[in-house]
Amino acid sequence: MDIISYMKRFRKYIAGVDTMVPLHSGRMATAINFDNAATTPPFVSVINEIVRFAPWYSSVHRGAGFKSKLCSDIFEKSRYNILDFVNADKEKDTVIFIKNTTEAINKLSYRLCNNHEKCVVLSTMMEHHSNDLPWRGKFKLDYISIDKSGRLSIEDLKRKLAQYDGNVKLVTVAGASNVTGFINPIHEIAAEAHKYNAFVCVDGAQLIPHKQIDMTYKDDGYIDFLAFSAHKMYAPFGIGVLVGPKKAFEEGDPDYSGGGTVKIVTPYDVKWDVPPHKEEAGSPNLMGVVALNSAIRTLKGVGMKNIEAYERYLTGYALQGLKTVPGIILYNGDNTRDRLGIIPFNIEGVYHGTVAEALSQKSGIAVRNGCFCAQPYIQKLLNISPKEIQSYMDSPDVPRPGMVRISFGLYNNLAEIDTLIQTLKWISKNKSLFKK
Ligand code: ALA
Repeated sequence: MDIISYMKRFRKYIAGVDTMVPLHSGRMATAINFDNAATTPPFVSVINEIVRFAPWYSSVHRGAGFKSKLCSDIFEKSRYNILDFVNADKEKDTVIFIKNTTEAINKLSYRLCNNHEKCVVLSTMMEHHSNDLPWRGKFKLDYISIDKSGRLSIEDLKRKLAQYDGNVKLVTVAGASNVTGFINPIHEIAAEAHKYNAFVCVDGAQLIPHKQIDMTYKDDGYIDFLAFSAHKMYAPFGIGVLVGPKKAFEEGDPDYSGGGTVKIVTPYDVKWDVPPHKEEAGSPNLMGVVALNSAIRTLKGVGMKNIEAYERYLTGYALQGLKTVPGIILYNGDNTRDRLGIIPFNIEGVYHGTVAEALSQKSGIAVRNGCFCAQPYIQKLLNISPKEIQSYMDSPDVPRPGMVRISFGLYNNLAEIDTLIQTLKWISKNKSLFKK
């Protein structure tokens, strides 16, 4: 069976694919969601699992009742499902549950090094703010540059690792960009970093629902830390994950403290519990964990390789169509190699916010526009001069350059892309209606 016919059956796995939304004309249309890089709708299986599990819900690690013991057991076992899903080292690594990728990276930023002045963190010029801002002010931070096409420069990574002469504590990099969808060669990056005894953290927020992640890759290409969010993998119930070596969390104080983090507390002293418990202050989000487990089961059932192949097909199809839209500006080339189904663009002469609004009003298509929480990357891709950037610093509320972004999920289809292309052609033809 070809991949299109195979994947067609999974559209019904998604809650809300048939929801009707109002258009400017007063008509109703079936909503088209091309904003999966921001967040994904829930799997129906996830919702069903939440309903099925709800009567059993109780406290985790805090109660003597049957349900409480059952819940504690489910919570602990789910760590192993997650380690298995990303092929982490089940002996060495642990799973820490937090809210989302942002919180995971913030948590890690309080670890790694006692002498923060001396320790260097290498982030990159293509990061989401969540893999940039948490490192600022805590470490000596430098950024691996990007090349003209917007891809990460491995040459610059090698140069910087050598230049910092063994002081790089961590190389932290997006598994894939939330702007261009470019997939970074994380195992090659890891192998380079490990030559200098640096750890590697992968911000897996974008990669996780689209491509199999393999943390224990052969030789030196293994990944030390991985952060991701369930809301980008069809399980939006407020849970995120930080996977990493238990050892990294043994020393020192947790960033948050409170119930569940300790073994002994006296009025004068505290003895922390072992990781992951010392890192999970407060009652944990068990419903989130149940949702995440369920999503993992469904993703495995569909098959990560099938998802990857199908979304690549959608991306190729969309790129062919987009190229026929008069005035289109594409920012991440037109081949489908080493990239996710994320396509940023503009229409010459029409403000990005106007294009996004018109897509919604005319055809019920949801996209995101702006700078996608990756402003330094957008500034580079749009070639914005330092002087202009300064002018936006001085007047942060004036409309700024940006892009429109479409991003696919496993349930999107060719007919939806056809509607997008037709609508963009209409916008381009009627651009005089829209003042820039
Ligand atoms: N990081 C998400 C995005 O790119 C929110 O839209």
